[in-house]
Amino acid sequence: MDAAEKISVEDEAVDKKIFKDCSKIAFYRRQKQRLSKKSTYRALLDSVTEGKESTRFQIINEAAKVPLLAEVYGIEGNIFRLKINEEAPLKPRYEVPDVLTSKPSTVRLISCSGDTGSLVLANGKGDLKCHITANPFKIDLVSEEEVVMSINSLGQLYFEQLQIPPKQSRATKENEEDTSDDTTQENQEELGLWEEKFRNFVDVKDNGPASIGLDFSLHGFEHVYGIPQHAESHQLKNTSDGDAYRLYNLDVYGYKIHDKMGIYGSVPYLLAHKLGRTLGIFWLNASETLVEINTEPAVKYALTQMGPVAAKEKGRSQTDVHWMSESGIIDVFLLTGPTPSDVFKQYSYLTGTQAMPPLFSLGYHQCRWNYKDEHDVKAVDAGFDEHDIPYDVMWLDIEHTEGKRYFTWDKKRFPNPKRMQELLRSKKRKLVVISDPHIKIDPDYLVYAKAKEQGFFVRNHEGGDFEGVCWPGLSSYLDFTSPKVREWYSSLFAFSVYQGSTDILYIWNDMNEPSVFRGPELTMQKNAIHHGNWEHRELHNIYGFYQQMATAEGLIQRSKGKERPFVLTRSFFAGSQKYGAVWTGDNTAEWSYLKISIPMLLTLSVTGISFCGADVGGFIGNPEAELLVRWYQAGAYQPFFRGHATKNTKRREPWLFGEEHTRLIQEAIRERYALLPYWYSLFYSAHVASQPVMRPLWVEFPDELETFSVEDEYMLGSALLVHPVTEPKATVVDVFLPGSSEVWYDSKTFAHWEGACTVKIPVALDTIPVFQRGGSVVPIKTTIGRSTGCMTDSPYGLWVALSTKGSAVGEFYLDDGHSFQYLHQKQFLHRKFSFTSGVLINSCADKRGHYPSKCVVEQILVLGLKKHPSSVTSHSPDGKAQPVAFTYCAKTSTLNLEKFSLNIGADWKVQIQ
Ligand code: GLC
Repeated sequence: MDAAEKISVEDEAVDKKIFKDCSKIAFYRRQKQRLSKKSTYRALLDSVTEGKESTRFQIINEAAKVPLLAEVYGIEGNIFRLKINEEAPLKPRYEVPDVLTSKPSTVRLISCSGDTGSLVLANGKGDLKCHITANPFKIDLVSEEEVVMSINSLGQLYFEQLQIPPKQSRATKENEEDTSDDTTQENQEELGLWEEKFRNFVDVKDNGPASIGLDFSLHGFEHVYGIPQHAESHQLKNTSDGDAYRLYNLDVYGYKIHDKMGIYGSVPYLLAHKLGRTLGIFWLNASETLVEINTEPAVKYALTQMGPVAAKEKGRSQTDVHWMSESGIIDVFLLTGPTPSDVFKQYSYLTGTQAMPPLFSLGYHQCRWNYKDEHDVKAVDAGFDEHDIPYDVMWLDIEHTEGKRYFTWDKKRFPNPKRMQELLRSKKRKLVVISDPHIKIDPDYLVYAKAKEQGFFVRNHEGGDFEGVCWPGLSSYLDFTSPKVREWYSSLFAFSVYQGSTDILYIWNDMNEPSVFRGPELTMQKNAIHHGNWEHRELHNIYGFYQQMATAEGLIQRSKGKERPFVLTRSFFAGSQKYGAVWTGDNTAEWSYLKISIPMLLTLSVTGISFCGADVGGFIGNPEAELLVRWYQAGAYQPFFRGHATKNTKRREPWLFGEEHTRLIQEAIRERYALLPYWYSLFYSAHVASQPVMRPLWVEFPDELETFSVEDEYMLGSALLVHPVTEPKATVVDVFLPGSSEVWYDSKTFAHWEGACTVKIPVALDTIPVFQRGGSVVPIKTTIGRSTGCMTDSPYGLWVALSTKGSAVGEFYLDDGHSFQYLHQKQFLHRKFSFTSGVLINSCADKRGHYPSKCVVEQILVLGLKKHPSSVTSHSPDGKAQPVAFTYCAKTSTLNLEKFSLNIGADWKVQIQ
């Protein structure tokens, strides 16, 4: 299929036959077949050795009799790590590099003798223990005497040992018995040991079978989340009567929703939550991975004439999670919580936190495949100004290049890219252009010629450069797994090298699963060869991660280390949050895709990737005006906010749907810009304190069972609850307001409700149901400019929503919005607002930071103030007290201080009497 063909075929629905389901995956079939025969492992506890970092012992399978080596590590922050590998593999097995931020500090585990046949390893405090049972081999994770997780209690530990290829082994050890027992010629094919067929593709496996698997039973847990990316619900579903969740990065144009097939990215990390405890399982493996989930609820319901009735009370609920990977080793981190916030910190301790985005990237992005030429760009840019709609970034897709040769410009359409960027710069706007990993095979294309000369491409099984078809036609693929290739690729972004680029140009990495049009499942052959002679199969899921890493590094280097990069990637892995933003790929302009964007983004958010979004409007197809408006309203409250549309769709700039719809879209985008101080502060908290920006309700209300399955609404930070309208012609939405001791305020009408109830909110086409939680202070901008850069000096406002006790707290973070000076020179402002007993105090939240700001707070809105004040006085830093003019509305219990003017960065207080 060439590029054009790909589009026309795929413009319809996704053809699932191109992709494998579990039954087509040989290692899945092998594990299922073998596990049904039950051959258990035994730990040889008399072999225990205590190393400096880990406790090691052998485990042995009664059938294979070849020992595996298990290592248990205690890691700082209440994390355990379990590694299982062959004790003496035929050759080294792949261990995923570059994901762990630095070597995690180990803590010494104290071994306490268990009963005979067991070993107990405890952390320093003794409140967390690994109880290892020898026969059959099992590990129980015990926290304060409660077993929270068991490993291998279902006996699904599976480890295929590397073997000598059959031909060779037949020749060398003619009379020896083959250890791989049931591998007769016929079922060799079924088992796919050395060769696996799918459609017209044959995967020749030089290393033979190498798959691994292990089970985890989570005691008392019914709610599990994570393992993106799937177009599925936030809460993971039972897979017992269907396909497992597949983690295999694939280019699935118009992916089906409510499906467990792998799409663009993978984070092999699962979270489990129950009352009183949150846990995480991080399975560090970059090969194709399958995850089966089996949840047994505590109460089983039967349908009777009277409706569902509790049929059977089981003692305790349990969720079994079965991980299977095609190769590599077992390297699993157990994050013990106990709170959601602890688990977020534990995970980011291992893989890093969300990169602090440049402020502009939190504004609105305007993309389409493609803006035709410089003139088109100019007209669209002007359209935003004409309609008074703020936006920050113009995007150019693949057609901006000379024949899809990245780092070049189509000279006819974009004769003067610098001039175009100067136009954007004059409005403090930016440009993002695309740069994909496939490089057109063309000796006259410098990027190709240089990469070829230096041997920087992935190689094929035969040893030549891998060649595959993508947008430019026949292409080779840069081997980003090599540090040298990454270094070289980064250098291509230098201003002197990338002709026509300026410092307002940022990058979009796409097709980096990698997408290979004629390849198996539209990706690279698994036996392609990477740096270090590793097969593609070992590291498929981390390929895109490396491209984004190299791109981000390139953008940092071009500024000599001064400026923060912005890189959007389609493919990702655990830890991609360190390098920028992720989006959910080629969605469709249908209501169901708008709806699924919420759980998809929540899942990314809890697995560390806070900077995520979905194409506003839906990439494929033509949204009707109502859907487009609703999508803008939803997108305005999602972290990465970009409108995008595929080729051949009708133009859909915000002003093309009539005046009324233009106004509604404008309003939604303006709401986004008003809230930017809050967004930026939330990203800072994600960056320094590992807390997701977009949070499922269970994260904020971990003690409230009702929140565990909610996914049509979510929290932005801890202050705002958002329930986007995702149904056509909606006139009312049911909004669940959690928390029995909470009070919630409608952000527009200021109506309020006590928590722990579902309220019917009437909605018109201009309604975005957003509620502020009592007890919070949200910083906003009171004046909107045409881009974030134009709003630097505009004043602030504070929304103070009082709790049932009449108090509120909130934070505010500010820096220059683009450089690393917040980090290196501590040039930032971090303020804290607190309201108690009628006094609002602005104080410093982090004394290390200094950042002069001219901005004032000009408006303070207090929601939930029951009594009409007699006076309001401000106390400025120099001790001066001044009366403040105010209006009070008894009907809505709101106090409005409008003519206020005190510096946002100064210590002051306001007294309400
Ligand atoms: C892929 C991307 C899409 C982009 C297109 C052309 O389909 O997902 O966003 O517009 O390629 O580059």
